[in-house]
Amino acid sequence: MPAGEIYPVAPVRETSMSELPCVHGKQKEYQLIQVKNTWCRVESGHEIPCTWEEDQIVVSQAKIGEKTSNSGISWTVQAPIVFRYKVVESQNLLDPCNPTLLYGHVSDPQELETYQKKPQKRLIVIDATVDKFYGYKVRKYFEANNVNYKILPFITTEETKSMELVMSIVEEVHKFSLDRRTEPIIAIGGGVCLDIVGLAASLYRRRTPYIRVPTTLLSYVDASVGAKNGVNFCNCKNKLGSYTPPAATFLDRSFIQTIPRRQISNGLGEILKMALMKHKELFELLELHGKHLLDTKFQTRIGVTSRGDPALQTTRIAIETMLEELAPNLWEDDLDRLVDYGHVVSPELEMKVLPALMHGEAVNTDMAFMTHVSYVRGLITLEEKDRTIQCMRGLELPVWHKDCTMPLIKKALAERFKHSGGKMRLPLPTGLGTAEIFNDVTDGTIEAAYKMWEEKCRDNTP
Ligand SMILES: NC(=O)c1ccc[n+]([C@@H]2O[C@H](COP(=O)([O-])OP(=O)(O)OC[C@H]3O[C@@H](n4cnc5c(N)ncnc54)[C@H](O)[C@@H]3O)[C@@H](O)[C@H]2O)c1
Repeated sequence: MPAGEIYPVAPVRETSMSELPCVHGKQKEYQLIQVKNTWCRVESGHEIPCTWEEDQIVVSQAKIGEKTSNSGISWTVQAPIVFRYKVVESQNLLDPCNPTLLYGHVSDPQELETYQKKPQKRLIVIDATVDKFYGYKVRKYFEANNVNYKILPFITTEETKSMELVMSIVEEVHKFSLDRRTEPIIAIGGGVCLDIVGLAASLYRRRTPYIRVPTTLLSYVDASVGAKNGVNFCNCKNKLGSYTPPAATFLDRSFIQTIPRRQISNGLGEILKMALMKHKELFELLELHGKHLLDTKFQTRIGVTSRGDPALQTTRIAIETMLEELAPNLWEDDLDRLVDYGHVVSPELEMKVLPALMHGEAVNTDMAFMTHVSYVRGLITLEEKDRTIQCMRGLELPVWHKDCTMPLIKKALAERFKHSGGKMRLPLPTGLGTAEIFNDVTDGTIEAAYKMWEEKCRDNTP
């Protein structure tokens, strides 16, 4: 069909703004329809021209609004962007016979077939410590699968979580010349490594697919399941970053067996957060099996069924509850987020005492304080408060830190809420496994809670 017929509104495009008639507040909305590779507008509510064959057209979810006024036209683009990414449990991820690491991100069988026919190339960024433990297995995996690969071990710590490291990675990506569409960058490490690589991938050619392989408990249940990435900047935590989910996250709990006990506690802090906010059974599992999980480093004993396996149950519930909260709010447009519990005061504290507290430890210190805020506010009972603090201690998490002072808390609250027009949005438990966001917690409550917190937790008694 001639192009002219499929541009019902073409004259508007060709009219210069100064030639437009003066019409006050006239508004139209257009749908976007693609016919034979060309997109065009059709006014909403108007019929699609019948000369177009149905199987030739693609209708976009995007819309263009158009408002005509005395000063000209303004166009408003509404473009829903859909992200689809996978979070996949996979045992023996580094077994050369397991195809997940190479192809697990591909869902379409036809696409997979095309993939498998061509030679594979992968760039792997790995945390230097993880490389010491598992590097030989990673190399063996790619060699056995005839992959042209390059491994970049980096020391990825909170102190090196910076733009410099992001730049080193993008330079290597550029030199290695990956096919942006089909050869995802692979990140293997803890939350720091995954966050740095995620940011590098989001910058290189605006968005290069990447894979996350978490190797700490914290990154397994938290840092690897959402869309966020970032690095520290100007001594502020994760100040530079983006919302760019990976193509896929592959979860293999066996990596966790080599992390020190303190880091298991660190990860348990984020699991406890989800329990306190929205899952009482998860809280009870942690109360009951906390010590066992610490002792066994989340490894499943041979012969244990999945129903009787607290390691599997707790990590699964933590991920499911996290995904429930993240998926509808991937870009954090809604600022009322339960997953922010423990993340109000902790960023300030973590950066101040670096490297004394790990992320999950700082989060837990924040949660221990907020538990007292909740109690003083009358949202939880004394028994619930004491059970919460007791559970934290059982998980070997700090419930107090001397540098979490009243001035630091006030500064952190002000910093936190200045970005939401000064409106307070404080997630607080309202029971064990239930929570709400509050915006009217007074200075008096904060100060009284601090006093009680100091009294009860400073000397390590519940
Ligand atoms: N993007 C997100 O949504 C998100 C969510 C939560 C946390 N985070 C970020 O995650 C970071 C914390 O992550 P983390 O706790 O994993 O810390 P981390 O990445 O610093 O890892 C901790 C230490 O463990 C070592 N390590 C990693 N895996 C190991 C293994 N299998 N065996 C032995 N040692 C191992 C690392 O070398 C490192 O020294 C923070 O920077 C935080 O901001 C991001």
